[in-house]
Amino acid sequence: MEKSIVLFVYLFLFTIFSSFSFAEITTESPLSVGQTLSSSNGVYELGFFSFNNSQNKYVGIWFKGIIPKVVVWVANRESPVVDSSAYLSITINGSLLLFNGKDSLVWSSGGTSTSNGSRAKLSDKGNLIVTENVSGNTIWESFEELGDTLLPSSPLMYNLATGKKRVLTSWKSQNDPSPGNFLAQITPQEPSQLITMNGSTRYYRSGPWAYPKFTGTPLMDDTLASPFSFQQDANVSGSFSYEDRSSQLSSVVLTPEGSLKRFRRSGADWEVPFKAPANLCEVYGACGPFGLCVSSVPLKCKCFKGFVPKSTDEWRKGNWTGGCGRRTELFCHGNSTSKSANGFHPVPNIKPPDFYKFVSSVDIEACRQSCLHNCSCLAFAYISGIGCLVWNQELIDIMQFSEGGELLFIRLASSELGGNINKKIIAASVVSLSLFVLLCSAAFCFWRYRLKHIAMISKEASRDAWRKGLKPHVSGLNFFDMNTIQTATNNFSLSNKLGQGGFGSVYKGKLQDGKEIAVKRLSSSSGQGKEEFMNEIVLISKLQHNNLVRILGCCIEGEEKLLIYEFMLNKSLDNFLFDSRKRIEIGWPKRFNIIQGIARGLLYLHRDSRLRVIHRDLKVSNILLDEKMNPKISDFGLARMYQGTEYQNNTRRVVGTLGYMSPEYAWTGTFSEKSDIYSFGVLLLEIISGEKISRFINGEEGKTLLSYAWESWCENGGIDLLDQDVADSCNPSEVGRCVQIGLICVQHQPAGRPNTLALLSMLTTTSDLPLPTQPTFVVHSRDEESMSKDLMTVNEMTLSVILGR
Ligand SMILES: *[C@@H]1O[C@H](CO)[C@@H](O)[C@H](O)[C@H]1NC(C)=O
Ligand SMILES: *[C@@H]1O[C@H](CO)[C@@H](O)[C@H](O)[C@H]1NC(C)=O
Ligand SMILES: *[C@@H]1O[C@H](CO)[C@@H](O)[C@H](O)[C@H]1NC(C)=O
Ligand SMILES: *[C@@H]1O[C@H](CO)[C@@H](O)[C@H](O)[C@H]1NC(C)=O
Ligand SMILES: *[C@@H]1O[C@H](CO)[C@@H](O)[C@H](O)[C@H]1NC(C)=O
Ligand SMILES: *[C@@H]1O[C@H](CO)[C@@H](O)[C@H](O)[C@H]1NC(C)=O
Ligand SMILES: *[C@@H]1O[C@H](CO)[C@@H](O)[C@H](O)[C@H]1NC(C)=O
Ligand SMILES: *[C@@H]1O[C@H](CO)[C@@H](O)[C@H](O)[C@H]1NC(C)=O
Ligand SMILES: *[C@@H]1O[C@H](CO)[C@@H](O)[C@H](O)[C@H]1NC(C)=O
Repeated sequence: MEKSIVLFVYLFLFTIFSSFSFAEITTESPLSVGQTLSSSNGVYELGFFSFNNSQNKYVGIWFKGIIPKVVVWVANRESPVVDSSAYLSITINGSLLLFNGKDSLVWSSGGTSTSNGSRAKLSDKGNLIVTENVSGNTIWESFEELGDTLLPSSPLMYNLATGKKRVLTSWKSQNDPSPGNFLAQITPQEPSQLITMNGSTRYYRSGPWAYPKFTGTPLMDDTLASPFSFQQDANVSGSFSYEDRSSQLSSVVLTPEGSLKRFRRSGADWEVPFKAPANLCEVYGACGPFGLCVSSVPLKCKCFKGFVPKSTDEWRKGNWTGGCGRRTELFCHGNSTSKSANGFHPVPNIKPPDFYKFVSSVDIEACRQSCLHNCSCLAFAYISGIGCLVWNQELIDIMQFSEGGELLFIRLASSELGGNINKKIIAASVVSLSLFVLLCSAAFCFWRYRLKHIAMISKEASRDAWRKGLKPHVSGLNFFDMNTIQTATNNFSLSNKLGQGGFGSVYKGKLQDGKEIAVKRLSSSSGQGKEEFMNEIVLISKLQHNNLVRILGCCIEGEEKLLIYEFMLNKSLDNFLFDSRKRIEIGWPKRFNIIQGIARGLLYLHRDSRLRVIHRDLKVSNILLDEKMNPKISDFGLARMYQGTEYQNNTRRVVGTLGYMSPEYAWTGTFSEKSDIYSFGVLLLEIISGEKISRFINGEEGKTLLSYAWESWCENGGIDLLDQDVADSCNPSEVGRCVQIGLICVQHQPAGRPNTLALLSMLTTTSDLPLPTQPTFVVHSRDEESMSKDLMTVNEMTLSVILGR
């Protein structure tokens, strides 16, 4: 397809001139039909050419030796010469002049009034340059008068001070290089954007430049993004160009149909790595004012929240150009009332609308304030690489991407902001009401039975603990011998196995006195000596907190290393969270309590204990629940133990679980408090939604739990992320707050995440929260996808990666 377009776009030249190659054009040696001028690297060639054996001849530059001929510049675009005695000469004052046979002037480049003589040369970049003979100054160059083609290092530019401008103008047709309908230019606004005009109307818009890409093309891949560069000198000048690092031939062409295409030579063909508009959504204003283009085939538009189509009939017919209008008019008078009468609604994955205004403000809050306090401000966005943009007129030419893009905050009347959430909640409640009534009684009975049962057991347990002398806050360790443990666990029988954790299998055991224990049989790959191991255990056992699983003792015999923990009656959180029946047992208040408990445990590990342990493998299955459903973190300190030995082997071991690992930990192995915070954020979102992070790894449209959370938070403050099964028990403001905290915790940059102290305070107070930015969603290539699938099918086991040094 593209290949045929390439063939079509590029020109066939059947007239073969016998060619004498020239070094330069001087007053003595003009260039006549049949002669050519080459660049010294042999890439470009200048001469007379014609289309399809036509009589009309043009002076142009093309890629030397490429057939069919690709013309990149034409001098006499509008006035071809027909005479074969035509020639191109240069005057003493530096003008290039094209004469038709009978010495009638057809085209002139313009030059200076005085000069000491000059000559014209074709540079290695494909630029025809006229230089002053003595000083060597450039008098004129073909890059100044662009045609339909941009070559590497030939910029589009504007300069308000000198009034100079370089733009692309399309050809009328394949065979007619005279200026067509389309023009591509960069705008003098700040930040600049690339705009293609069809006559006097806008046809394509790149979106403001945010280094290193245009915001309208969020998924510009590296190979594409890297060659473009934009320089802008505030209010005076700007230039846009591209470089090709590889020595392949390339060009950017504005075709007669108005399409901007980047061509790159690959073997004997031309590739088109970039094309704009790439689809119907990218055509300027496809959805009219306040309309969002959401899909291209077929073209589909939707209105912003709080807006309705101007003409429903036209929209139904697929005529989207009318756009949308406000359902509720804004009520905005001056300063004081504006705050309560309206507010901002975030819309994610957006190509920023046209007619933006740059506001130099340092942060997103200042940006919000500057928009809030001006009634004519309709929307704002805080874009990385740019900063604060505000909109004071109808929002137009907006796309919503399925991934990437910017977060746009649009001003809405308060009634529009609040109303919908309530409606949604009511709708959700009504839908689940019947289900709830059915399940409610059953759950209640089950719960009461459970409470009784738990109370009984815990009484026994504490009695046993005293008898055995394991007082809760004694830091001394018990050393068990192997026989005791083997008996207790029924010789590590499969029926006693509780699970497979990151560092080995866990077995349930029952000591002779009836006390139940959990035994972790460490995988022998830890490779630590007995002495070091003991030291580590002693240290870890000193970590005692209400929200940490307590170590009762250990057992070392030969290669076997066992850790003995208190047994948790309710096992781990994932038993409840991901079980279709048990999930209703943990309603929102319990979940909120669990979330806070985990944060307390984490704060103790990070700050309050003397050891300052980074957990590094925080996940649902490492959160155990005691009889009162209090959360207890397990497996803390183990990563530390393992890493300790691996360091000496000059390898660094990444211990963690896919999906929970922060980007910096997963890729570079560097961990900190903030990498645990990231895992906590994922955990938090799982607890709210009742969905596994792993479930989404190959989910529909490649969406992840994080992107669902983000969308939900943007759409309605996160409230509908909550597990529908427990929706009735929810406190909307707490849920919304927790979703926001979760999103803040999974920020790509560690600096964007709170520290643990701040985290706990966010969870336990109602102070103002920072606004999260959109989390980065990893785009899986096909290979990575299958890799992660393999890893995930190993039952969510901890992933250990050895990174060579
Ligand atoms: C050249 O002429 C042929 C036949 O007349 C036509 O099909 C072709 O499109 C022409 N090529 C160009 C570049 O116009
Ligand atoms: C340049 O020189 C030509 C003759 O060589 C003359 O006709 C023309 O007016 C000069 N142009 C300027 C700008 O002086
Ligand atoms: C011509 O050459 C002289 C020196 O030889 C120089 O001073 C002058 O600037 C030159 N004229 C132009 C137009 O460059
Ligand atoms: C300088 O310009 C004159 C007039 O165009 C030309 O005759 C001469 O060859 C040039 N000198 C050089 C060194 O190119
Ligand atoms: C460009 O504008 C003309 C008239 O203004 C219109 O007929 C034509 O369809 C437009 N072209 C494109 C590609 O939109
Ligand atoms: C550009 O802006 C600065 C102040 O920001 C001003 O001093 C200068 O005159 C402006 N220049 C132009 C060409 O408008
Ligand atoms: C599309 O709708 C607008 C108003 O929304 C109307 O002015 C225009 O004529 C319609 N165009 C077509 C092709 O129906
Ligand atoms: C609005 O109030 C803020 C402080 O609340 C003040 O900074 C700002 O200047 C006021 N703007 C107007 C237009 O009164
Ligand atoms: C609000 O924004 C408009 C448009 O940019 C501007 O003309 C006006 O001065 C602003 N008003 C205030 C109070 O800042």
